[in-house]
Order: sequence, then structure tokens, then C-alpha cells
Amino acid sequence: MQAFDVVVVGAGAAGLFCAGQAGQRGLRVLLVDHASRLAEKIRISGGGRCNFTNRDAGPANFLSDNPAFCRSALARYTSQDFIKLVQRHGIAFHEKHKGQLFCDDSSEQIIQMLLKECEAGDVTRWQPCTVADVRPRPEGGFELDTSQGAVSAARVVVATGGLPVPKIGATDWGLRLATHLGHAIVEPRPALVPLTFDADTWAPFAALAGLSLPVEVSCGSGKTRMRFLEDLLFTHRGLSGPAILQISSYRAADQALQINLAPELRLDQELVEAKGSSRRQLGNELAARLAQRLASAWLERARLEPSRPLAECRDADLQRLGRSVHEWQLTPSGDEGWRKAEVMRGGVSTRDLSSQTMESRRVPGLYFIGEVVDVTGWLGGYNFQWAWASAVACATAM
Ligand code: FDA
Repeated sequence: MQAFDVVVVGAGAAGLFCAGQAGQRGLRVLLVDHASRLAEKIRISGGGRCNFTNRDAGPANFLSDNPAFCRSALARYTSQDFIKLVQRHGIAFHEKHKGQLFCDDSSEQIIQMLLKECEAGDVTRWQPCTVADVRPRPEGGFELDTSQGAVSAARVVVATGGLPVPKIGATDWGLRLATHLGHAIVEPRPALVPLTFDADTWAPFAALAGLSLPVEVSCGSGKTRMRFLEDLLFTHRGLSGPAILQISSYRAADQALQINLAPELRLDQELVEAKGSSRRQLGNELAARLAQRLASAWLERARLEPSRPLAECRDADLQRLGRSVHEWQLTPSGDEGWRKAEVMRGGVSTRDLSSQTMESRRVPGLYFIGEVVDVTGWLGGYNFQWAWASAVACATAM
């Protein structure tokens, strides 16, 4: 039986980084992954350019049953630390939007950087390799049955990620192992995911597919109200775009969304005020302020005639029309599921883990890092920052 100090299961963002860091600290590290291609999620991330971190990443950008859990790891390994690493490897990058950093060239550069960090730590990598069983030994440490033979290790790190995109290798292996070894699981559900509507509800909006516009979207009320100002995209089955992906992580099933389709305007006042000076028809007046297709669809919903001169419209109708643009309320019937989600909400409960080290409180020597843990970031580089930060918290504690 081959012996290692650490076996890391899952060679994605968190696993690769943790393995390299632990190896560079002098530990004998084995990294295994069941997929034949390395780090597919990094490869496809950020449209192929990997939004590898966010300059402003902080605890407020993460969801969890225990929102304070991510605080320590994020503070000890910040986005600035990862930016310095990227710069040391000579990777050119740029800021796209709201602190989001992307490679100028390709996400492959981040994968190559992580591989070089593993080489510097003399990490052994077996891929494709499956792990059938992880057995804690009574005297401490673990035995693992892998498709390349049995191994022993003082520590095991579970970095098998979340459930999104099963066709590129996502599995529930980490969640099942955690359950088997007595850890609580916060129910996993798709997050950063497009929202869908039943066919009848969506029929009036289906013609808007492809239209993208900046909106304000919110859900909840009082202290639990969340709000994002981002772009929304109409699709054939529902709504997508950054605004919807962000709010999808917060929305409870059956909860309504409030969408302001023209957050920069006050249409209910502006249309009434324009009556005195405008000689346009109502349809043209609205289309001067909103995308043409959106203007047509909203006039139809309000049952108002586009060809009617604005000056002849009733104030009450114009106010009602304006409010319907600013206060669109609708309840999705579902979402596009694991196939289209970018991340998993929920996962291994943080109450069974140390926030300093990511070590299990139930099984000493067992660690959980990255997306498999109940810490979920916003859209915009936050999920990778959690992968890097939790990997370092774990690697430096071993
Ligand atoms: P990750 O998924 O990276 O790695 C898990 C690894 O475990 C995989 O290699 C998998 O093959 C392996 N594995 C699974 N089951 C196994 C088993 N049973 N045995 C052995 N190995 C197993 N985030 C961000 O911050 N910026 C971005 O630009 C994007 N873009 C993006 C686009 C798309 C399309 C998706 C789906 C996701 C993103 N994300 C993102 C999210 C980001 O990719 C994700 O949060 C991190 O990759 C999570 O890192 P982990 O290492 O935890 O899992």
C-alpha cells in the first residue's frame, strides 16, 4: 500500500491549489480525480477567460446557513494574494465589471499556473482515478481504495466541488462521503441559475427572447430583501443574465421577484409630463425610452393602443403603464437545474467544520474545501476566491 501524508480528492480549483500549497510545505501529496480532463470548470469559466477572482471579495458576497464561516479564510487569503500569484506567473488580466478579473488570453493559463504550483510541491497526480472507499483508521489516518490501488494517508481533503454540470464530471461523492461519516448536509440546490416559467405564463414574453437590458431585481422583504442592479436577459423559457443569476441564489421556491425594467427612469411621471410637449403616438413615446420590443409587449399587457396620440391618453393609464414597467412582479415556476447552474447552494454544513482549517469536527484529519462546503459566492469571481481561500486555510493547517 502506497503511503502519503495527504490525499486530495478532486483536481479542480480548490483541490489543485490545496495540493500545490501542501506539497510546497513539504507534505507528500497525492491528488486524484475521476475525470480524464483536468479542471474542466476552470477551463469553461468566464466564457473561457476565467473570472479568477474579484478585487472586492468579502463575506457579504457569500451565502451560507452560517454567513460568518467564510470570514476567517477570506481574510487570511485575499483576492490581492491571488492577484500577486497570477502576476508572479506572468498572466495578463483585466477588470471587466465591478471588480471582476479575467485572463486577457485564456483560462488555460490559470490551469497551467496551478499545475506549476503542484510541480513545485512535487504532487503526485492520478487521473482518471476513482475512489471507492475512504476508511478512517482507529489509530488515526485513513485507508482509501482507489482504481489504482489502495493507499494510506494521514489526512484526506475532499475537493469534489458542487453538483452543477454533471456532464463534465460533477458528482455527489463528497456529499455522500460527508453523510456517511456523520456530517450534516445543507440541502443542495442550483444557484446562479436561469429561472423558468410555465408555458402559458411565459407566452406573452416569449417574443422578447434575446433582449438584454439593465434592471433592478429584488426578492424578499425587510432584512432579508436582496437587490441587484445588473443586466437581465429574456430567454425562450424565462429569464437569465447576471441580474437573474444573482437573485436566483437568494430566491426561495415559490417566492416572487420584483423587477424594475427601467431603473434609471420614472416612467409613471415622465409620460404624464410629456403629454404637454410631445406630439408622438404613445407607442413611439414609450419606444423612445425603452427597447421597441419591450415597449410593444408592455403596451399590449396594459391593453393600450400604441397609435393613440400621447396627448389624448388618460393620466391614470400612463401612470399605470409606467408602474407596470417599474414594478413587474412575477413568480418563476422553476429553474434550469444542475445542467445550467453555475454553482451549488448548500453542501457540507459548516457547523461540522472548523472555519480556521476546514477540518471536520467529526473525523479528525478529514477536510472539506471549495464548493462542496455550504459557502456559495455571488457571480463575479467570488466562487473561485472561496476555492483559493479555503484551499489555503486547509493547506496551511496540515
Ligand atoms: P471544481 O468543480 O472546480 O472541481 C471538482 C473536481 O472534483 C472536478 O475536477 C471533478 O472532476 C472532481 N470530482 C468530482 N467527483 C469526483 C469523484 N467522485 N472522484 C474524483 N474526483 C471527483 N466561478 C468564478 O469564480 N468565476 C467564474 O468565471 C466562473 N465561471 C463558471 C462557469 C460555469 C459554466 C460554471 C459551471 C461554473 C463557474 N464558476 C465560476 C464556478 C466555479 O467553477 C466553481 O465554484 C469552482 O470551480 C469550485 O471549485 P472546486 O474545486 O470546489 O470544484
